[in-house]
Amino acid sequence: MDSIELEDLQRRLKALEEENARLKAAGAAVLTERRKVESALADSEERYRTLFNSIDEGFCIIEFFDGPHGPLSDYVHVEANPAYTQHAGIANVVGQKVREMVPDEAGGWVELYGGVLRTGVPIRFERELVATSRHLELAAFRVEPASRKQVAVLFQDITPRKRAERELQQLNETLEARVVAALAERKLMADLVEGTDAFVQVVDPDFRWLAVNGAAAREFHRIYGILPKVGDNMLELLEDQPEHRDAIRTAWSRALAGEAFVEIAGFGEPGRARRFYEMRFNCLRDGEGRLLGAYQFSYDVTERLKEQERLREAEEALRQSQKMEAVGQLTGGIAHDFNNLLTGIIGSLELLQTRIGQGRVKEIDRYVSAAQGAAKRAAALTHRLLAFSRRQTLDPRPTDLNRLVMGMEELVRRTVGPEIAVEVVTAGGLWPTLIDASQLENALLNLCINARDAMPGGGRLTIETANRWLDEHGAGERDLDPGQYVSLCVTDTGTGMAPEVVERAFEPFFTTKPIGQGTGLGLSMVYGFVRQSGGQVRIYSEVGQGTTMCLYLPRHYGKETDRPAALATKTAMHPQADHTILVVDDEPSIRMLLTDALEEIGFNVIEAHDGPTGLNILQSDQVIDLLVTDVGLPGGMNGRQLADAARTTRPALKVLFITGYAENAIIGNGQLAPDMQVLTKPFVVEALASRILDMIKDGTGRN
Ligand SMILES: Nc1ncnc2c1ncn2[C@@H]1O[C@H](COP(=O)(O)OP(=O)(O)OP(=O)(O)O)[C@@H](O)[C@H]1O
Ligand SMILES: [Mg+2]
Repeated sequence: MDSIELEDLQRRLKALEEENARLKAAGAAVLTERRKVESALADSEERYRTLFNSIDEGFCIIEFFDGPHGPLSDYVHVEANPAYTQHAGIANVVGQKVREMVPDEAGGWVELYGGVLRTGVPIRFERELVATSRHLELAAFRVEPASRKQVAVLFQDITPRKRAERELQQLNETLEARVVAALAERKLMADLVEGTDAFVQVVDPDFRWLAVNGAAAREFHRIYGILPKVGDNMLELLEDQPEHRDAIRTAWSRALAGEAFVEIAGFGEPGRARRFYEMRFNCLRDGEGRLLGAYQFSYDVTERLKEQERLREAEEALRQSQKMEAVGQLTGGIAHDFNNLLTGIIGSLELLQTRIGQGRVKEIDRYVSAAQGAAKRAAALTHRLLAFSRRQTLDPRPTDLNRLVMGMEELVRRTVGPEIAVEVVTAGGLWPTLIDASQLENALLNLCINARDAMPGGGRLTIETANRWLDEHGAGERDLDPGQYVSLCVTDTGTGMAPEVVERAFEPFFTTKPIGQGTGLGLSMVYGFVRQSGGQVRIYSEVGQGTTMCLYLPRHYGKETDRPAALATKTAMHPQADHTILVVDDEPSIRMLLTDALEEIGFNVIEAHDGPTGLNILQSDQVIDLLVTDVGLPGGMNGRQLADAARTTRPALKVLFITGYAENAIIGNGQLAPDMQVLTKPFVVEALASRILDMIKDGTGRN
């Protein structure tokens, strides 16, 4: 080898060595660089992992592939962080294909993410993951390069927020709906108030209108000639009409003082324009109870009042016609009965006259008794009528009802006959009652006779007494004052009474019995007597079951006196020529009868036809032992006034009043001083004589 060749070789070796060293150095640098890159990569990977695993949002990378629905029509989850499950509600998604995972909604998701993959434009959107009912907020971007066919998705569950939003919206909607409804209601109310024909007004405490509806304003204008509006002052508007102003102030002041009340009053000119209003006043307060003013609702009730008035008039007319019918029936009944009796009397008197003319005096007796019989029946008839009219002269005494009933038992038994069993049940400790005993006996007998007539085939009759305490209710039912009563009830097991018979049973002349058997006066008399005595009669009856008639008589708060009722002692008639009697009566026939009868006994009789004439005689020094006077007298002075006037000069004057009926009150309903007595018309001469003799015999003092 020549030196040149070596030299060249050495040079080339050196170059190679240099090259080698350079390469070595370069290689070392590359290695270092690679190591560096690798470590950086590992760092970044680490950071990414940490981030990936620890972020709160869900994160995943999906990768598209060609599925059965076409190219890139499905994707698979290649990565997903732990938060994925928490937000989406689906676990272990890595490796899951969307079309398998959520087949019903996969198309939508594929379309959205496919768009990102195709265009590279990131999207942000909200969407419900229907499968788990999660509302998600999502961001998606393409992982470059596009050839990787990957899309990264970052998302979070916003379901609670969505729900809150929805609730808020609903709340808003309902609030809005409520406001709309409230406004509509207010408008309706306002329309109603405005449209109603009721008059509505509201005023503040200073009488200033806070509100007034059209009807009220127009009515105000019609009455007072002024059209009011909100803000006007009522009292100021009526300054020129002080009368109306004061009336309005009075009414509204009450309401403004807190009173709620209703008033009916008339306004406007009397006659055509006058109308009546029902006004309801009330005070108006705010939520805290502070007084804001007062309001009034009023209605025109003119027609209603007129209607009521018409109704009242119609009822009155009906009552009047019923009364006339009853009066007609009563008058007819009386006329019928009296005609019969008068026929008996007149006929007998005529025949009497004929026979006397013929000198056939032996035959006159029967006519006299026939006339007397008819006259007695007429007297009994008027007595019953008076009893019904509650104007008979009563002699009430404290009475033991038990004793009265037991005293009647035998008579009742004989009256009803053997077919009917009579039972008397008397209450122990029975209260006394203040009653005319003989009238009560009469009433009891009437009830027993009615009971007998209702039991033609026999039956049982019970007479019962009891103490009764009637409270407000019980008394109201029986048209009595509450308090203590004694009852006397008569019960039979007879035919009973239909309701329409019960209703009319107390009417005079009402009878269901055949002509000639009943006068229809029995119960009317019982009723009148008991009512006059402060009591009541009640009928409890059912057809086919029998009847109970109950008399309620007021309790007497004193002791029963043992004084026997009106002892009928026969008085011997002696000539009384040394006694003088003044007879005052306006009816000449009665005066004549009295005079004849008294002179027959032997008295001296002076007659006067009216009060003043009688008084003249009494004020003279004429000796008078007894004054017999009618109560009802002409000449401006009744019998009572005559007696009182006479007694100023003759204090011990004995007086016998003779009375028809209406004068009971004048002579104190039987409550008279002992030297004043009453005799009821009609009377028989014998009764008159015995009474006068009794009075004259008592005491000798002459006037
Ligand atoms: N106990 C009773 N049971 C059934 N009906 C009775 C009873 N008491 C009264 N009535 C009915 O009431 C009517 C009127 O009775 P009221 O005593 O007034 O008259 P009367 O008995 O018919 O006649 P009068 O009593 O005048 O002879 C009777 O006709 C009878 O229809
Ligand atoms: Mg009867």
